[in-house]
Amino acid sequence: MRHHRIAAIPGDGIGPEVVTAALEVLAVLAARDGGFRLDVTSFGWGSDRYRRTGALMPADGVAQLRGFDAILFGAVGAPDVPDHVTLWGLRLAICQGLDQFANVRPTRILPGVQSPLRGIGPDALDWVIVRENSEGEYAGQGGRSHRGQPHEIATETAIFTRTGVERIMRFAFELARARPRRRLTVVTKSNAQRHGLVLWDEIAAEVARDVPEVSWDKMLVDAMTVRMTLHPQSIDTVVATNLHADILSDLAAALAGSIGIAPTANLDPTRRAPSMFEPIHGSAFDITGKGIANPVGTFWSAAMMLDHLGETAAAARLMAAVEGALADPACHTPDLGGTATTRAMTDAVIAGLGR
Ligand code: IPM
Ligand code: MG
Repeated sequence: MRHHRIAAIPGDGIGPEVVTAALEVLAVLAARDGGFRLDVTSFGWGSDRYRRTGALMPADGVAQLRGFDAILFGAVGAPDVPDHVTLWGLRLAICQGLDQFANVRPTRILPGVQSPLRGIGPDALDWVIVRENSEGEYAGQGGRSHRGQPHEIATETAIFTRTGVERIMRFAFELARARPRRRLTVVTKSNAQRHGLVLWDEIAAEVARDVPEVSWDKMLVDAMTVRMTLHPQSIDTVVATNLHADILSDLAAALAGSIGIAPTANLDPTRRAPSMFEPIHGSAFDITGKGIANPVGTFWSAAMMLDHLGETAAAARLMAAVEGALADPACHTPDLGGTATTRAMTDAVIAGLGR
């Protein structure tokens, strides 16, 4: 029996609802698979803890997580706590603390889901966006002076290191090579951002020479939004900076039908530290507690987690059950235009796992 130690961090808002649903599905899946067991430890970190103690997680939180094989994360963010506090206090502290430098965001139009694009079938959109997850515009470099004065100044410095750019570029080229179309689009804004993103372009060309099986092209991020909307079939794997990919992945999720479906993996490809898996959506306070959050983004993230843990058969089985459930409009939660509950979708996926 293979054992995997999972840290669950449900977090805020609908996070606990979708993580509970995913843990239930994972437990059934493991029992029916029979080959592996998940030992889950839940951490009550998030905004409630911040209100009580002044910190979203304990000072040694990142060190505690190192003992696990993977992390399943829900969402973080609360209406009464500034977003930069919650983000830097938990999610970014974990991603950067464990050096999970590759953020991977697959996008597909799953069966039964309607894309807002006109005349687009399910095969038209099959992308993976690779987001640089350790530096760039999220490096946290900058400061503020002369607060409240007319000459107040704030700087926000993006950092691009050769090490950081090269490792994400190699990861993206390798991922593109492993996909059937072997095609990579390198996104920058190197016309306007003439230092860091010119370095990014140069490193892309260098790495490309080592991976000749992959055909690649370059796009400026603004033009990329047009291409994603008008020519989705022309895109396969995409690599972009931390902020650019943040924005493009929201667009991708919307074009694929709902932000409630999209998954994320924050990977440490070196496997020195555990990787973290989470739905792309946020804490969604407008629907918290109503039992209508779409758990599919977390289910898909859980499937990515199983893949990462080497449980590829179980991962495929989970995705097949998710696709089967989505194909039935009666299982659609309100973000997909339906009236189903989290419970109903979860039950349908469990039923679809088979014996
Ligand atoms: C994401 C989110 C986060 C980010 C937010 C919650 C700060 O939008 O994971 O894409 O910008 O990284
Ligand atoms: Mg985002």
